[in-house]
Amino acid sequence: MPVTTCVFDAYGTLFDVSAAARQAAAEPAFERISGCWQAIAENWRQKQLQYTWLRAVVDAHTDFWTVTGEGLEWALERNGFDGDTALYDRLMALYRELQAYPEVPDMLAALKAVGKNTAILSNGSPDMLAAAVASAGVTDLLDDTLSVESVGIFKPDARVYDLVCKRFGCDKSEVLFVSSNGWDAGCATGYGFTTAWVNRAGEPVDRLPWRPAHMIPDLTGIPELAGL
Ligand code: LAC
Repeated sequence: MPVTTCVFDAYGTLFDVSAAARQAAAEPAFERISGCWQAIAENWRQKQLQYTWLRAVVDAHTDFWTVTGEGLEWALERNGFDGDTALYDRLMALYRELQAYPEVPDMLAALKAVGKNTAILSNGSPDMLAAAVASAGVTDLLDDTLSVESVGIFKPDARVYDLVCKRFGCDKSEVLFVSSNGWDAGCATGYGFTTAWVNRAGEPVDRLPWRPAHMIPDLTGIPELAGL
């Protein structure tokens, strides 16, 4: 089936999750992280994701904003900034207005110009996703922003991927699902979507029962994968 619907993971895929720590490190008030902002960003992301998986496994769901804060607390303690509330508050504020990767607006506009459905499917809670979409200036280029909060469990639970075909009335085979998370793209392949893994860092493929159908270095190749 031709691709009718292009669906994107949010954090790390459309929005640059390392931008918050990078930006804070460049501010005079937070010069203290200029030598370790990459480690903070990496520890933050790793813990944030681990906590989503663990909470899903033990059936202890909470929203992604809470998990993001808990991951940041761990990352700050790990890097010697336990109890630094000014730094914590600044990083959380910056997370609400993450920069989109530069190719995002043109890529989405190309899909919309030929009538493809476009949406986000994210662990993010609705308010943080709305803030990120608005600050990236892509509100008009997305038909919808689908959040796991409507099913109360994180990816890669199938109930999350189910949201796409329910929303657009399409078949799984019409969906191109795009994620920078290898595990998300792999599990979405297992679910039945055609998948593209945005592998900016040249990471090895995750050893899961399923692999992403496509691997691309950034989002510029998406219109071509969607059949344009
Ligand atoms: C998301 C996370 C997994 O946006 O990046 O769903």
